[in-house]
Amino acid sequence: MQIGIIGGTGAEGRGLAARLAAAGVPLLLGSRTIERAREAVERLRASGAALPVEAATNDAVVDQSDIVFLAVPFAAAGEFVSTYAARFRPGTVVVDLTVPMRFVNRAPVFEEVPEGSAAEYLRARLPPEVRLAAALKTIPASVLSRLDISLDCDEFVCADSPEARVAAVDVLARIPGLRLLDAGGLDAARTLERMTLLAVQINMRYHVRTARYRVVGV
Ligand SMILES: NC(=O)c1ccc[n+]([C@@H]2O[C@H](COP(=O)([O-])OP(=O)(O)OC[C@H]3O[C@@H](n4cnc5c(N)ncnc54)[C@H](OP(=O)(O)O)[C@@H]3O)[C@@H](O)[C@H]2O)c1
Repeated sequence: MQIGIIGGTGAEGRGLAARLAAAGVPLLLGSRTIERAREAVERLRASGAALPVEAATNDAVVDQSDIVFLAVPFAAAGEFVSTYAARFRPGTVVVDLTVPMRFVNRAPVFEEVPEGSAAEYLRARLPPEVRLAAALKTIPASVLSRLDISLDCDEFVCADSPEARVAAVDVLARIPGLRLLDAGGLDAARTLERMTLLAVQINMRYHVRTARYRVVGV
């Protein structure tokens, strides 16, 4: 099972790569340019650990991966999906991390998406044979990338495709300290993406960068 990350050079993608690689999950770290991907891999390996992560172009990630984590800005995700729609292998699982949020005068602003959520926007643009799940939308890069911080939190996975949900959970469950909760169908992303906005607002209010979710009673 080959796993790849599109946007693996970014804050969130690099954090995910660090967590998966530290858990021994082999993966391709993707970028639009191989140089940036190599730079990010070198940074991950700076700890001296022999991590199972390889640099790749986005083309190679799409061509070779069974599970593709999409960690680019939402503003770029539509174009990415349109460009690669016909290139994904049938049966590929795309796991969407994107949140339609931007900062205006340092304040987080949620961008309404006509489809209801970023995940549903992407679903509408992906071919049916490509399966889609949404996950890791609420966990901040500043926590993911700090391997010295135990995650000790929940993350939510939603999907209309049972296969996509299972695939996303199977991979992410390898990350220590992360409990995966099934949030239901893809339309749950409408709530999850807004929960990210709330986490960012809490971070700002409390002057921290580590706010994340834990559901009690489950
Ligand atoms: N940061 C967080 O704490 C956090 C938390 C939860 C969810 N998310 C979501 O995760 C996604 C990534 O967040 P991030 O903070 O890591 O973003 P980022 O650092 O701004 O971007 C991630 C990567 O996306 C690629 N990229 C940028 N513009 C692109 C374009 N026009 N076309 C294709 N690729 C492009 C770049 O890689 P190359 O230049 O190497 O190709 C970049 O390194 C976002 O959708 C965000 O909402 C982020």
